[in-house]
Amino acid sequence: MKITKAILPVAGKGTRVMPLTLHQPKGMIALADKPMVHYVIDELVDAGIDTIILITNPCQDVFKKYIEYLKPDHAWGHLDFKFAYQKHPRGNGDAVYTARKFIEADEPFVVAFCDDIFEHKQSPLPEMLSVFKTSAQPTLLLQKVPREIASRYGVIRPSSKLTGRTIKIADIVEKPETAKIPSNLTVVGRYVLPYKIFGYLKYLYPQHQKEIGLTDALKLYLADHHELAGVKLTGQRFDCGSIEGMLQAQVYFSTLHSLFKIQELRSKI
Ligand code: G1P
Repeated sequence: MKITKAILPVAGKGTRVMPLTLHQPKGMIALADKPMVHYVIDELVDAGIDTIILITNPCQDVFKKYIEYLKPDHAWGHLDFKFAYQKHPRGNGDAVYTARKFIEADEPFVVAFCDDIFEHKQSPLPEMLSVFKTSAQPTLLLQKVPREIASRYGVIRPSSKLTGRTIKIADIVEKPETAKIPSNLTVVGRYVLPYKIFGYLKYLYPQHQKEIGLTDALKLYLADHHELAGVKLTGQRFDCGSIEGMLQAQVYFSTLHSLFKIQELRSKI
């Protein structure tokens, strides 16, 4: 089955990169000459996605304006953009659940977070889509990081069976304390998910005075199905949810721009 839809949760407050997000959503922060969301949409298009579902805050019509401005004369002309609104930022799981009306029953889909950006044309999505097609399990992107920073992310416990870059996941924990991390394999913001994940998000929904994370739903999925699939990232990922990652991405994409030919500088980033 061809996977053609992607959900982009972009309604978050972006508190970790304040004050840049005081007057604009995080996904609209520019890296070199384009906002982050632009890089992610290009990546999705290259992976064969043709329907992009943006979950925005109702006050953020800036994404819609940007897309309407570009779409007619741009390589995005064929794309179908949909918008859904998350009135309160209640977590990335809540955002994904908000998009369910655009996904057909039994249709798998991609979730992409706009603050995880990869080296030019080095998207992990084609490999993740092919792993999903054979495993039919939620497929997560994983990155090995130093233990001392793993607690910034979702962290997984691999099950014993490892094959190449594809691994089986036995457990997942959201931002555990460093002393309790189950491994140094962390979750990066690309997921290929089966439709049935909505059933777990729905279960979490009524309880949510607090945030609902995708991790919570994946934990419930694990309890029922025992496994998730993971694909280890090769190449560089810029964590643009942090100022440090954003600065690295700024330099990388600026030196990649046709106005610059600073090969030596790029190779050092
Ligand atoms: C989210 C996920 C987390 C993941 C991270 C990757 O966290 O909840 O599991 O590791 O994205 O960027 P957030 O960045 O929203 O805090």
